[in-house]
Amino acid sequence: TVLIVDFGSQVTQLIARRVREAGVYCEIVPFQSAEEGFRRLSPKAVILSGSPASTLEIGSPRAPSVIFESGLPVFGICYGQQTMCAQLGGKVESGHHREFGRAFLEVEKDCALFDGVWSLGSRHQVWMSHGDRVTALPEGFEVVATSSNAPFAFIADEKRKYYAVQFHPEVVHTPDGAKLISNFVHKIAGIRGDWTMSAYRAKAVEAIRQQVGDKKVICALSGGVDSSVAALLIHEAVGDQLTCILVDHGLMRKDEAANVVAMFQEHYNLHLLHIDASDRFIGELTGVSDPETKRKIIGRLFIEVFEEEAKKLGGADFLAQGTLYPDVIESVSFTGGPSVTIKSHHNVGGLPERMNMQLVEPLRELFKDEVRVLGRELGLPDSFIGRHPFPGPGLAIRCPGGISREKLEILREADAIYLDEIRKAGLYDAIWQAFAVLLPVQTVGVMGDGRTYEFVCALRAVTSVDGMTADFYHYDMEFLGRAATRIINEVRGINRVVYDVTSKPPGTIEWE
Ligand code: XMP
Repeated sequence: TVLIVDFGSQVTQLIARRVREAGVYCEIVPFQSAEEGFRRLSPKAVILSGSPASTLEIGSPRAPSVIFESGLPVFGICYGQQTMCAQLGGKVESGHHREFGRAFLEVEKDCALFDGVWSLGSRHQVWMSHGDRVTALPEGFEVVATSSNAPFAFIADEKRKYYAVQFHPEVVHTPDGAKLISNFVHKIAGIRGDWTMSAYRAKAVEAIRQQVGDKKVICALSGGVDSSVAALLIHEAVGDQLTCILVDHGLMRKDEAANVVAMFQEHYNLHLLHIDASDRFIGELTGVSDPETKRKIIGRLFIEVFEEEAKKLGGADFLAQGTLYPDVIESVSFTGGPSVTIKSHHNVGGLPERMNMQLVEPLRELFKDEVRVLGRELGLPDSFIGRHPFPGPGLAIRCPGGISREKLEILREADAIYLDEIRKAGLYDAIWQAFAVLLPVQTVGVMGDGRTYEFVCALRAVTSVDGMTADFYHYDMEFLGRAATRIINEVRGINRVVYDVTSKPPGTIEWE
C-alpha cells in the first residue's frame, strides 16, 4: 500500500490514479488524519500532495513526523516538496513570480528514480503550478534536475529514498510523470504491481461474506453501472441472500427496464423485483413544472416505494450501495463555507437511517473506470458498461414544464431514434452523454399539404470527463440533419428539431 497525504490540491486524485495504474493499491488520507492513516495502513511508501496553502503561513499543514521517522521512501510533490524541505531543515521562500504551466527540466545528475525514463543531460516537459519555492536544501539532498525558473525543480536524498519535485508529475501535461511515479513505487519502494481487478474481486467477495454473514441484503438497482456492479459482486458473495429492487418510475428510456430485468434475471439468475410504480410517480408529477419540485417528488416517492417493497420482503439488515472512491475521499477544505445547490440530486442516501440498515459498499475503494473493469470481470457486456450516464429522475427532467404519459412517450421515441443514429454513426463512445429533450413549445410546420402544430425536440450531446464541466459535441451538420429528419418523420407529435450548443458552465448538462 502507498499512503497519499492530501494537502488539498485539486489534483490529488490523479496521484492515486497513477499509483493504481502502476498496479499498486493506495489510499488518500487528509493531512489532519495522516498519522492515524499511516498506522492503519502500514504503507510501504508515502507521497505528499500539492496544496493551495503556503508553508510560510502560520498554521499551514505539515506531514506527521512518523512518516520521516519510519525510514520509508517519501515522494513530495509541489507543496509536498516544500513541506518536506521545511520539516527536514531546508528553506522555503515566497517566489518572486508565480509559475504556472509548461516548463522544461534538464537532468543534471543520475538518479534511481529516472531509471529507464530520463538520462543525464536530457530535457523534458513538466507542468508547474506554484507560488513558493525551495531556496535551501535540507542535509543529504542534492539537485538532480533544474528548470530555468526552478533551480530546485527535482531534488533527491537517495540514501533516505526521499524525492521531491516542484512540478506535478501526476498530470498528463507532464508526459513522463506516470513513469516517474511508477518507478517510485516499484523500483524505489520495491512494491510489486499486483493490484489487479481479479485480485480485487476475490478480496471484495471475501469481505462481503465477512460483513454480511447469513443476513439479508437489499439493493436498489437502476441499471446504472455502479449499482449493477455492486449488485453482481454481492450476488457472487452471498447469492440469494441478496434481493434487488428495481423501482420503475415510468421515467426510463425506451425498453430500459425490460432490458435490465432480462439481463439480471436471465444471465445472472439474480433475485430481482421489478416494481412498476409509474402510475404513482406520474400521478404525483402531473401538473408540476418546477424542476426542483419534480426532483423532490421523485426522490421522496422513490424512498417510499423502496421502503414499502422492502417491508413486504420482511426487511433486510443491509442496504447495498454503489458508492465510489471519489465520494468517500474526505475533501480538504481551505475555504470552508457551503456551496450553492444547483440541483438536488436524487439518491438513496437517506434510506439507511430511516430503515435502520447497515451499508454494504463494495466499490468504496474504486474509481469509475476501475468499476468498469470490474464489471467486465463479472461478465457484464460492453454495451452495458460503456453506457452514457442517466440521471435518477430520468425523463422527467428532460421534459421541461408539466409532464404527461403522452409527452413521455413522444420523448422516449425521439430519444431512441437519436441514440440509434449516434450508434450507427459510430459516435456513441466519443460522446460522454447524449439525449433528447422535449420542449413544452409547439411550432407551426408543413407536412405534405397540411399545416402541423407540434412540439419541438432539442438534441443534446456533450463531452466531459466527470460531468462537472462539459463541452457540447461538435457534430457535422449531415449527422444532425439525418437525426432530425428521422425524428420528425417517425415520431408523431414532433415537427421541429434543434441542437443545443451550450457548454457547462454556463449551462448544465440536463435541462432541469
Ligand atoms: P448536470 O445537469 O447537473 O448533470 O450538469 C451532471 C451529470 O449528472 C447527471 N444528473 C444526475 N444524476 N441523479 C443522478 O444520478 C440526478 O438527480 C441527476 N441530475 C443530473 C446528469 O445526467 C449528468 O450526467
